[in-house]
Amino acid sequence: MTTSSRVPRRTVLQEHPVKQHLRYTVPALASACALALSACGGDDGGESSGAAGGGSGSGGSKAQGIDPASIETAKGNVTLCAPALTIEAAKAAVKQAATEASGLKVDVITLPDAADEQNAQFVRRQRAKSGECDVFESDVVWTAQFAAQDWLLNVTDYVNARKAEFIPSTLETATYEKSYFGVPEKTDAGLLYYRKDRTATPPDTWQALYSQAKDAGGLVYQGKAYEGLTVHFLEVAYGAGGKVLSDDGTKSEINSPENLAALKLMADGVKNGAVPKAVLTYQEGESQQAFDSGKPGFMRNWPYAYSLEKESKTEAVKKNFDVAPLPTFEGGQAAGVLGGSNLVISKFSKNPSAALKLVDVMTNADAMRLRATEYSLAPVLNESYDDAEIKKALPFSDALKTAVEQAQARPVSPAYTQVSTAISSNVAKALSGRTTPEAALEAADKAISSALTTF
Ligand code: GLC
Repeated sequence: MTTSSRVPRRTVLQEHPVKQHLRYTVPALASACALALSACGGDDGGESSGAAGGGSGSGGSKAQGIDPASIETAKGNVTLCAPALTIEAAKAAVKQAATEASGLKVDVITLPDAADEQNAQFVRRQRAKSGECDVFESDVVWTAQFAAQDWLLNVTDYVNARKAEFIPSTLETATYEKSYFGVPEKTDAGLLYYRKDRTATPPDTWQALYSQAKDAGGLVYQGKAYEGLTVHFLEVAYGAGGKVLSDDGTKSEINSPENLAALKLMADGVKNGAVPKAVLTYQEGESQQAFDSGKPGFMRNWPYAYSLEKESKTEAVKKNFDVAPLPTFEGGQAAGVLGGSNLVISKFSKNPSAALKLVDVMTNADAMRLRATEYSLAPVLNESYDDAEIKKALPFSDALKTAVEQAQARPVSPAYTQVSTAISSNVAKALSGRTTPEAALEAADKAISSALTTF
């Protein structure tokens, strides 16, 4: 069914370039949203189980599944755990979902901004068998890790019934061992934000970008040691022709001349001032705020930032910013890294059918429209890209289409977080000058090789 599902357990480590063959568009504008999320109908009681055994329709996994029909009678309390960065969008979608008629009472727990910390918080809860997060807005790279631990309910029956609605690459990210463990919620790809008043046309190679950035206020990106830096390093490295793992997924290939060329370019950028040193402390939010201040000429960020810049208080930014696909690497290729989130349901949920009902409403066409038009988050449903309202609200649809088409998946593995930490921590050391790019890739290679032996 998908690349990851074809690979047997324990050897699921591999990168699989995901090319999408889709029309694309995306987003505009954020509006703040009220927090009164529990103001919905239905009574407190009546929580129904809905959980079912693996069953024939649950794909290849024996993990416990949910009967999609249980949505019909589902009601009661359910809690969504979602990251701070896009929490307003999550709350707005919940508000839309938890109408009086739905019988759902939804609480929202806000998780930290940093992907690594969101992961750690969910892991802590699941290890404690806590049902606190019925539904978790999970990064696309964590499906294998959580499913391998048997922490998620198998939603294969539900997804199969809706399969044709979704962009195929988004479904791949929700797959583990031929089963679905999540429902795609949003897709993501990095974009180059630039100032038209400083650069008439956006640079089309990373090298050109770095040399222009010096005289254009600098380039900002996510340079702190966390998942965001893994993503950005891979955007440049994939462009240079680099990889993380061998094709069969069993060996580290991080220490390659291609990856070294990418890391040198990035480290030189910090050294020569094309990239301000403060970037080494930036996650998505800090880079967006820096670009918003009007100083940097360029920013690498996700589509969510578009809606915020459209509302920028810095007039020059609001008026003059635009977005373009990420540059290519000189002599290399256009590349990117596929991001996004899936809604997953905790195995320890006390109300799984209501959890699935919430997921159902939060992934319908109305929810996609709301998130796209108000919060510039990219839809996962095919039909959204023909939606006139979305098209109108997302003037950078062409750039996004290209960005998503050129995006590749990160390595698929239950050990993904270890592999990623090996990359981000060593890349961060090279960027700050604490180590050389050569030594950083050697160290990353050792750490990845050791992570591979643990699975
Ligand atoms: C965004 C992406 C996600 C990625 C994260 C890194 O949230 O959607 O896939 O891992 O940023 O910070």
